[in-house]
Amino acid sequence: MSEIIAKVEKNKTRFKAVDADGNVVDGISASMRRKAFDNNKALQRAIGKTGRPFWRLVSIEEFASVDTKSAPTTERDEASMEINEIPEKHTEIVDFIKNSYSIKPRKLFMSETKWKYLVRSAVRGKNVMMTGNSGCGKTLASKTLAEVLDRPFYYFNLGATQDPRSALIGNTHFKKDTGTVFSESSFIKAIRTPNSIILLDELSRAHPDAWNILMTPLDPLQRYVRLDESEDSEVVPVADGVTFVATANVGNEYTSTRVMDRALLDRFVTVEMDELDYEEEVQLLKLLYPDADINMLGVISEITTETRKVVRHSDSKITDSLSTRSAVEMAGLAYDGFELKEIAEAAIYPHFSEDGGSDSERTFMKQVVQKYVYDENTPEDLISINPDETKGDTPPY
Ligand SMILES: Nc1ncnc2c1ncn2[C@@H]1O[C@H](COP(=O)(O)OP(=O)(O)O)[C@@H](O)[C@H]1O
Ligand SMILES: [Mg+2]
Repeated sequence: MSEIIAKVEKNKTRFKAVDADGNVVDGISASMRRKAFDNNKALQRAIGKTGRPFWRLVSIEEFASVDTKSAPTTERDEASMEINEIPEKHTEIVDFIKNSYSIKPRKLFMSETKWKYLVRSAVRGKNVMMTGNSGCGKTLASKTLAEVLDRPFYYFNLGATQDPRSALIGNTHFKKDTGTVFSESSFIKAIRTPNSIILLDELSRAHPDAWNILMTPLDPLQRYVRLDESEDSEVVPVADGVTFVATANVGNEYTSTRVMDRALLDRFVTVEMDELDYEEEVQLLKLLYPDADINMLGVISEITTETRKVVRHSDSKITDSLSTRSAVEMAGLAYDGFELKEIAEAAIYPHFSEDGGSDSERTFMKQVVQKYVYDENTPEDLISINPDETKGDTPPY
């Protein structure tokens, strides 16, 4: 794979680099292509000491020698290699993926299949798009993946990026003594780092310019970033083994297609994060706050998971649910001695609108919370969210 040799052909005013099979080779700057053509040289891709690939001029005979090893021989070579080497590697990979659930940290809740799919995609060099509702663990899962695979990790929050060009490519500065200098972004450093995992967090909320810049590095057939819009500007190839993981806050209906370009989405495999159910969420809260009141953790999860059920109904009174992130926040308050009423005031009601007064989302949530609060002044038989719900005031424990 590192041994790529290209020859340059002139096509009217353009210089085209092709490999021995006549396929166009991307990622060589126009000036380099012209130089090779003018000097009757071939171009060979080499890997520098820092792991950074570059193109160097070599004698045209180098290209010719690749060329004369006619296709059938090359194919046979590859075939015999496949029989000798790849199966062994393949079994190793299969075993690794199979056992990967045992190395998933307990603090991340994710089904075995989804976790294995995530690990598999990363070790197979696929770009992964994590989708799911806000606060369901997309960022956590991506960070955990990098930890577990022990690969260099780079984090970019694209949702917060104002100026995509400078964040993803870099800035040009002018200094009196040195003139114009280009300082490359940490994103460029990241793509130069072999085997790194690059998290493109909140890609769904990124500026469309960011999506455009990311089109070529994310394309498995291109994998480069052009530092400048001009044709002959420097091109930085994405180092070998780099995996991109993106997150998209899109809910599980996969509505992202509406916002993000189809072509961009096609560059990823999708791993959908599921929301936790009641049992899983209580387990998580217990794990994070073992000393908090267990009844309170149970009530918190009842309320949050209830909103996730209710919100799915077409005639739902609320338009948004409480995420696992909110549940964790509430559990922290419980641990710090807050009572349910206070937790609700601080961490539940602000998520729900007061518009509509007695018919508002907030009023609905107050009724949900009220089920669990003992209040001398409220006759308990009046509290009912769902007229046909008979176990309405049964505490979870
Ligand atoms: N599936 C999960 N497993 C464990 N913790 C979770 C999970 N989902 C959410 N959390 C908790 O909520 C917090 C926010 O999750 P995060 O990964 O930032 O959500 P997202 O990126 O999907 O918005 C996490 O730090 C963790 O405490
Ligand atoms: Mg996130």
